[in-house]
Formats: sequence, structure tokens, C-alpha cells
Amino acid sequence: MGALRSFVILGTLVSPALSTAVPLTRPRAVAGQGWSLQSGTCPADTKSCGNESCCPSTSNCQATGNGEVEACCPTTSNCRGSVEGAPSCASAAWSLWTGSFGNGFCCEVGLTGAFVNGGSVAGICVTSVPSGYSMASLVSKGTGTPVTSTPPTSSTSSSAQTTTKASSTKSTTSGPTSTTVPRAVFAHYMVGSMTAAEAVQDVTDAKAVGFDAFALNTHDITDPWALEAIGYLFDAADQYGFKLFMSFDMSWHTISPSQIPSFLLNYTSRASYYTISGRPLVSTYDGGFIANSDWLLGFKQPLTAQGINPYFIPNFGDWSGWPSNFFSTYTVADGVFSWESAWPAPGTTISNVSDSVDQNLLQQARAAGKVFLMPVSSFQFKYLGPGQDWYRIGEVNLPQRFEQVLDLQPDLVELITWNDAGEGHYIGNFFQGQIDGSTIGNYANGFDHTGWQQLVSPFIRAYKGGTATSGSQILPPGSGPVGSLWYRTLLTSASCSSTIQNYQQGQDTVNFAVLLPSSGYTIKVYSNNGLIGSFAGTVGLNYRAVPGLSVGGGQYIQIVNSAGSVVASATGTKQVAAQSSNATCNWNYEVVGLS
Ligand SMILES: *[C@@H]1O[C@H](CO)[C@@H](O)[C@H](O)[C@H]1NC(C)=O
Ligand SMILES: *[C@@H]1O[C@H](CO)[C@@H](O)[C@H](O)[C@H]1NC(C)=O
Ligand SMILES: *[C@@H]1O[C@H](CO)[C@@H](O)[C@H](O)[C@H]1NC(C)=O
Ligand SMILES: *[C@@H]1O[C@H](CO)[C@@H](O)[C@H](O)[C@H]1NC(C)=O
Repeated sequence: MGALRSFVILGTLVSPALSTAVPLTRPRAVAGQGWSLQSGTCPADTKSCGNESCCPSTSNCQATGNGEVEACCPTTSNCRGSVEGAPSCASAAWSLWTGSFGNGFCCEVGLTGAFVNGGSVAGICVTSVPSGYSMASLVSKGTGTPVTSTPPTSSTSSSAQTTTKASSTKSTTSGPTSTTVPRAVFAHYMVGSMTAAEAVQDVTDAKAVGFDAFALNTHDITDPWALEAIGYLFDAADQYGFKLFMSFDMSWHTISPSQIPSFLLNYTSRASYYTISGRPLVSTYDGGFIANSDWLLGFKQPLTAQGINPYFIPNFGDWSGWPSNFFSTYTVADGVFSWESAWPAPGTTISNVSDSVDQNLLQQARAAGKVFLMPVSSFQFKYLGPGQDWYRIGEVNLPQRFEQVLDLQPDLVELITWNDAGEGHYIGNFFQGQIDGSTIGNYANGFDHTGWQQLVSPFIRAYKGGTATSGSQILPPGSGPVGSLWYRTLLTSASCSSTIQNYQQGQDTVNFAVLLPSSGYTIKVYSNNGLIGSFAGTVGLNYRAVPGLSVGGGQYIQIVNSAGSVVASATGTKQVAAQSSNATCNWNYEVVGLS
């Protein structure tokens, strides 16, 4: 049998019946009655109950019960039993969480509930979950304004006391936001048949680029070819100090949540499994057609019962309600990933990529004390037959997404992808064995994309550094320019172009993105050996899609210094043609790094 691999099928899934686990009615709240706020400093209109808890100033504090926090009661009579029966917060402004033994406690909006498994206190409120703690479950979000920091409390470690900016949308962000999880940049990785040596090469190359982990995309968790490849990758990662986590490809409908625990337990003990606060990270492509309750009962609870609390950041873009009310619908999720927002919408009009879905999800994550994993990608090109042929804008999508990440400051970032040759957005190695049995090689083989790594490495450094908020702060690693040139080898006017979905969005441009150490450089762009653009460079990121791609060779860019010397250049190795000479209408990019 030839190698099998998972190709992401885009736009073909409709979400089937969605069952909702969210009750439509809640018990009526009694004013001033409910669980107390866990905070060392009590906000205005509240009073301290001692034990770093606060009740509304008009309520009475009731001492803690076993594993519980102080209750707030409207009168001096003990209402603890009523609060246990119908848990709520004593103030509607606070968010209700459940922690140790499922006991309730309340936090100000913007903070995260955390608890020690089996601990004697229901939970605490923090900006970042301290080591040894688990993130609590958010039951309902309060109406209060998000707070920006948590005052020191004796029960949290110093790592939990960092301040954070609660609001992080474009309009309100003035600087970088520290997050509840350590910043990381992952690369999406399509699991396919491979050799041990190829696994070592991918792992060491991705580590050299600066990635923190591969998100291993698989729709198969039983067949020998998949288990063998995953095994090679974990062995390589263990050996070379890289990390991996699973991203289950649910779009194939070949994995059910209840099959995941036994599979995952085979890998979560590996040194190379990526964890957040000691919890193994798990992601998906799709799976929003499966109800929250099925994810909870089939996947999360069985693992938790075995002492493994997965940190679940799925992409449920196939859910019919996407992206609204994400965390109240999917209480199983600890974060959210948005695959589709990496590219402009498909269609017939040329547009820049929008970050409105990213902003929406980031806001929801901040409000719920959860995290947002933001996608970055170059473009898409797929040519596998009718219905499986498409283009998604890529002229300058990659640098535009870099800018959007630095503007929004998400918690985590995932590059789509390291090796998906089928969809064209690979930046890593091309291994024929991973795509055997397909015709992907007809358009990907020989189209090397590693030139994009010159841009990705400094971007990762800038994002993880935490202080860069714009492209001008993405700097080259040394004293000279880095960057790349990319163009298609077929004009959009080729007669075969209309076989490609969204071909109307393609442009005949020579594209570049260059990182300059200072101003004073000029970027010159040539097609068919003719100058089609000349641009004064600025420090950091410079990019353009320059119209004027023409038939022939001589596609190149030059970086010229103020003395008029060419200090770096990138020259395409492939000619541009007006028509395709065979059945492959190849819109893949020729990508060349500066040297
Ligand atoms: C503070 O916590 C301790 C230990 O959980 C408990 O015994 C005590 O009653 C609490 N005090 C108040 C005022 O709730
Ligand atoms: C566990 O992982 C190893 C590779 O590390 C693989 O060979 C084995 O088949 C896996 N077992 C299961 C049940 O997935
Ligand atoms: C995309 O953004 C660039 C830079 O802001 C702008 O010049 C261009 O007009 C935009 N293109 C479209 C189609 O909106
Ligand atoms: C199609 O033509 C291109 C350009 O001449 C060539 O590089 C490629 O190998 C050809 N593909 C096939 C499948 O013949």
C-alpha cells in the first residue's frame, strides 16, 4: 500500500446536528448571595472575609467549609447550603469557576481560576497558572470590566503575579500583552510515511528555524504507517531536544474523541511531548461537529481520571456557530485555534487578509481566561482534480499575517505549515515518501520554499521577545538584510487558470519581503531582466507585490546600499510561461531566499 497522508479538505464539511450542553435557564440569582471573590486585595464595594476572599460590602461572610471558599450571604443566617445547591457568584461582575473537587469560587473578569488537584481550597485567581496548579473550569463569565493584574497573594507562586493587559484588541492595544502561557510558535506538520532519517532532518531543521514544536496532524491513530511515522518523530524529538503535540484531523471522521485517550497516553510521558503548566497540549483540525459533551466524556474526563489533564486548543472552525460564544459552548476547550483566518476569504475579488476573526477569538479568550492560538500562513495552492483545485491569496499574505500577530499579541502562534506540499504552504523539507500515491509532486516537487525560513526565524524571535508590536521591529539576525522573493511561473492569463478555484484572486506580481537592519537601502525588483519597481527600504520588515511579472527568466530582487553596491540578491531559477505545457496548471510559488 502506498503511503497515506492527511490532506486537509477545505470548505467541504457541513456541521451536522449540534447538541448543546448549555442549559437554557439558570437558577435565579439572590442579590449578594454566592461564592466569594478570591483576592488578596478586595475591590471597591466589597469587604474582606479574611483568607484572601471578599464579599460584597452589603453581604455577610460565612466561613469556609471543607475544600470550599467563603460564602457570601445576604443576612447573618448561613446560606452556604443554598449556594452549594445553586452555585453563583455573590456579584454578577465576577466569573464563576469550579476547581478542587468541583467546588465553586469566583474571580474578577480577566483572571484565570487555578487549583491544586485534591487541594484544600476550591481555587485561586491568577494571571498565569502557576506550576503545580491546573486551570479551573469556567462556569460563567462575569459582567465586570477585565482587571489588568492580580495583587500578590500568599498562596500563589511568584510566576503567577505578573501583570497582564486584559484587553487586547486593535483599538485598545498600545503595547505587548503578557499572557497566561509561555509564548510559543508551532509549525503544523502533516504526518505521512517517512524514514527515521527524514524525521531527524525535519526535527533538527525546525528547531534551527526557532519553532517550539510540531503540531502533528493525523487522521489515523491505528495504522502501522502512521504509528511508525509518529514514533520516528518522537524518537527524533527526544534525541534532539524538540517538542511535539498531537493535532487530530477530525475532518476525515476517522477518529472519535473516545479513541484518543488510550492513543495519547502512549506519548504524553515522552520528554518531547509539549506541555503547558505540565499539561499535554492537544489540538485539532475540525471536530466542531462533535458535541462538547462528547469531547468532555470521551476525551477529557477519561484522561483527567488517569491524572492527565490535557490542555485542549482545538480548531472548531467547522462548527455552525463559529466563532461566537465559543467558550460557553465548548467548555471542554482551554483555548481556541482558528485555521481559516490565516488567509483572505476565497472568492473572486482580490482582498487583503482580515484579522477580524482573530480579534474576536482573542477577545473571547481574554474574557474567559483562556488562550488564543493564531495561525500564520503563506498561501494555498492545491491541484488534485475538480473540487480539489484551488488558490488562496498569497502575494504578501505571509508578511501581512506577521504584522497582524505583532499587532494583536495572541498567546500562541502556529505556522501553517511545515510540510503540507498538497496545499502549497510548506516552508520545510519536501519528502516524496510523505506524498506517495498522490500527484502532489507534479506541482510541489522542485518548488523549494525554504527561502521563507529567512523571514520566519526573525519573526519568531520578535514575537517571542514580547516587545515588538509592528513589522519595523522584526530585525534581521545579523548586520545584513535577509528575506525572500516569490513568484508564480505561469501568468494568470494562462488558459488553464480557470480550472483553479479563486483564480480571479491571483495577480501577476513579483513578491518580496525583506528585513533590513537600518534605512538607507533600496530594494530593486526585476522581471524578465527589466526593472519593475524600486523602493526605499525602512528598518525592519519591507514587503510588496510588484505588478509586472512577465514571461521569461530574469526574475530577481537586489538590495542596494547607500553607496550603490548590491549587498544581497535573490534570483529565481524558474522561467515564467504564458501557458502550461502539460495538464498541471501550476500556480505554486518559486521561492528564493536572499544571499
Ligand atoms: C480561613 O481558612 C481556614 C482553613 O481553610 C478555616 O479554618 C477558617 O475558618 C477560615 N476563616 C474564615 C474567616 O473563613
Ligand atoms: C505506541 O507508540 C509506539 C511508537 O513510539 C508505537 O510503535 C506503538 O504502536 C504505539 N502503540 C499504540 C497503542 O498506539
Ligand atoms: C491591501 O493593503 C495594502 C496596504 O495597506 C493597500 O495598499 C491595498 O490597497 C490593499 N488591497 C486591497 C485589495 O484592499
Ligand atoms: C509540466 O511542465 C512543467 C514545465 O515545463 C515541468 O516542469 C513539469 O515537470 C511538467 N509536469 C509533468 C507532470 O509532466
